[in-house]
Amino acid sequence: MARILMVTPEASPFVKTGGLGDVLGSLPAALAARGEDVAVLLPRYRNAHVWGLERIRHALPVSLGPHRFSVDVDLVTHRGARYLFLDCPPLYDRPGVYNEGGWDYPDNPIRFGLLNRAALEIARNIFRPDVFHSHDWPAGLLPLYLRTAAGDPALAGSKSILTIHNLGYQGNFPPAAMHDLGIDPSFYHPEGIEFYGRISFLKAGVVWADAVTTVSPTYAREIQTPEFGFGFDGLLRSRAYKLTGILNGVDYQEWDPRHDPHIPAHYWIDDLSGKAECKRELLAELGLPQIEDRPLIGIVSRFAYQKGFDLLGGIAEPLAQENLAFAVLGSGDPAIEEMFRRFAYAHPGKFGVRIGYDNGLAHRIEAGADMFLMPSRYEPSGLSQMYSLRYGTLPIVRATGGLEDSIDEETGFKFHGYAPAALLAAIQNASGAFQDRPAWQSRMRRAMSKDFSWDASAARYQDLYRS
Ligand code: ADP
Ligand code: GLC
Repeated sequence: MARILMVTPEASPFVKTGGLGDVLGSLPAALAARGEDVAVLLPRYRNAHVWGLERIRHALPVSLGPHRFSVDVDLVTHRGARYLFLDCPPLYDRPGVYNEGGWDYPDNPIRFGLLNRAALEIARNIFRPDVFHSHDWPAGLLPLYLRTAAGDPALAGSKSILTIHNLGYQGNFPPAAMHDLGIDPSFYHPEGIEFYGRISFLKAGVVWADAVTTVSPTYAREIQTPEFGFGFDGLLRSRAYKLTGILNGVDYQEWDPRHDPHIPAHYWIDDLSGKAECKRELLAELGLPQIEDRPLIGIVSRFAYQKGFDLLGGIAEPLAQENLAFAVLGSGDPAIEEMFRRFAYAHPGKFGVRIGYDNGLAHRIEAGADMFLMPSRYEPSGLSQMYSLRYGTLPIVRATGGLEDSIDEETGFKFHGYAPAALLAAIQNASGAFQDRPAWQSRMRRAMSKDFSWDASAARYQDLYRS
């Protein structure tokens, strides 16, 4: 049994803005089920959905450069793993996780710097891990802090792993932040924490972690190329010896049409009639006409550059000519929100659009749609396409990252070039296939019987911990 301390900015069901939250809500459980001793450290934000917390430490001093904080640590056990909440109201008692009203909190280096420093104090005082496992840039400084604390016997022998869930978010800040973070200026050079005239939390993790992983094998290759590297490709090529890709798993307790509490009817491979009811209800919920014999395409997403929805901009007219409709849920980039609002206004019977974040509706779209669209520019793993498979909602995806690794021609539809015409052709292809009902239903059954549960991927993380 290894002792693992995961450090993360989010974990479902407590706080989630995207797939990172899903992963930190389910990978720890899968590891615990396989016999590991797992703790997860995250900030206690104002809106965290937490219950039954036990205060296990009061007024633990944590210093960060010149700053002295006094933090409380609260514990809840969830599915076999311990979740430790770092309570520090001046930094975390705010409405947002990373930002508010579209603006990043200016003290994010301190907010997340403290999370990394606190992990060392947790190790000294509460839970001493064999492996520190950092997730994304907010936990990227930890391997550097560990290195600078190398003489400390409480930390001797501990190893560190960084998992990159998304290279597009790097935690880059002005060099002056080094003072606040207690980082010696001698680390400010291209082989260290310097990145194009700034400091980078993520780079610190890549440089100093003992191992680096990302969330699919294809993305692990892609990020070593200029097209997908966001300036990190050279660095990652030079660290290829310690870089691996492990595809995310699905939490089938949360995502399964047999018992999903958010959907109006349950169904499974042997009887798909419940899915037809989910479609009827979803169309009604979105104010769309009933279209039993025509495809409904679902979209549930953060609206970010990464997700590729700008491709739809140029093909709204031809799409509106097709015999299909869209069920859209998402929020983020105001330009993309506005684009979907425009579509709904121009073609009211074809685009049902909800701007916002709504977990229940996300489940109802997974269940009620016939197809699920992810035209991502890049996609480290992607979870929604794997949820869709389980709900018999065939994914239409761009062949990149985890989409390439999880979808094949038997269960979904892929396109390659990042071009509106390629996307349109894939949608038309799927729409044509939908007309052959018996063939479509056997595709659905194949999709639903795919198994992307965490077990196999959790075993790969265990191999890494052992090594
Ligand atoms: P990413 O992490 O890049 O956002 P993933 O496919 O890995 O992409 O995970 C997205 C997760 O966030 C899924 O669980 C999806 O259902 C959820 N999600 C995204 N946008 C919304 C939204 N607007 N409302 C509810 N859930 C959402
Ligand atoms: C990121 C990626 C997504 C991945 C998720 C969890 O948000 O964009 O592809 O599934 O992290 O690893």
